[in-house]
Amino acid sequence: MTDLGLQGKRVVVTGAAGGLGRGFALGFAEAGARVIVADINPDGIAETAQMIRDAGGVAEPVTVDVTSAASCTALAEAAAGAFGGIDILVNNAAIYAGLERRSFEDIDEAVFDKVMAVNVKGVWQMSRALTPLMRQAGGGAIVNVASATVFSGSPQWMHYVASKGAVIAMTRSMARELGDDKIRVNVIAPGFTLTEASLGLMEDAASYGVSRGALKRASEPADMVGGALYLASDLAGFVTGQTLIIDGGRQFI
Ligand SMILES: NC(=O)c1ccc[n+]([C@@H]2O[C@H](COP(=O)([O-])OP(=O)(O)OC[C@H]3O[C@@H](n4cnc5c(N)ncnc54)[C@H](O)[C@@H]3O)[C@@H](O)[C@H]2O)c1
Repeated sequence: MTDLGLQGKRVVVTGAAGGLGRGFALGFAEAGARVIVADINPDGIAETAQMIRDAGGVAEPVTVDVTSAASCTALAEAAAGAFGGIDILVNNAAIYAGLERRSFEDIDEAVFDKVMAVNVKGVWQMSRALTPLMRQAGGGAIVNVASATVFSGSPQWMHYVASKGAVIAMTRSMARELGDDKIRVNVIAPGFTLTEASLGLMEDAASYGVSRGALKRASEPADMVGGALYLASDLAGFVTGQTLIIDGGRQFI
């Protein structure tokens, strides 16, 4: 792989028990980074960490609930203990699997609150727990994972779309606040991508939206990794507050 300057960098990937998060964790490890594999699902992170170690990489699984400030602080302490600090955070954890499509008029209030707690508050809690370590390191990069649904306004999923719109808005605000600390904050907005979670959402998941794309194939987690590595690396050293849509040209072309 091309040297992206990520050798030895210390990365936290949340939601890394499977799906895209596992893809990001494996991708950063392959690029030479040391990875804190974080998720609320302890079995999944143990598996991801083992996959990285089997491939010769460095990984530590750490259980976290991103909605809890105390849990995010504990993760920061674990990261400082394991690697002496953190350079990069990938905020990928979200409620996505199992979300029912419903008219906005019929969304259950408790489900709405839960989606906001994980997808919005979780990004805030994790970011504020780890920025002190990035400051100590002299700078860093945060890559937030939103969704291309923000731009398509995917119907019957208003809570999820709104939560991911908030991630883009928070990114722009955090980027402005953290520029003086040399911490860059950007977003990846994936289009529909085949993961266990997305396959569970509908019967025709493998062909969903393919005909609308400029590139007519289904998207895999590996398709998202290059964008995250780029935004986290010095190649994107003058890029902050931006959103990279990775959807094979479905939304705008
Ligand atoms: N798969 C897609 O089509 C698609 C498209 C656009 C955006 N995304 C986004 O990509 C990311 C990953 O999606 P995925 O398809 O891999 O889904 P996924 O459900 O496999 O991944 C989400 C992960 O977040 C973890 N998580 C949930 N609540 C948590 C909490 N409170 N604390 C810590 N971890 C928690 C889950 O255990 C899970 O491992 C999500 O942000 C999702 O919104 C996915």
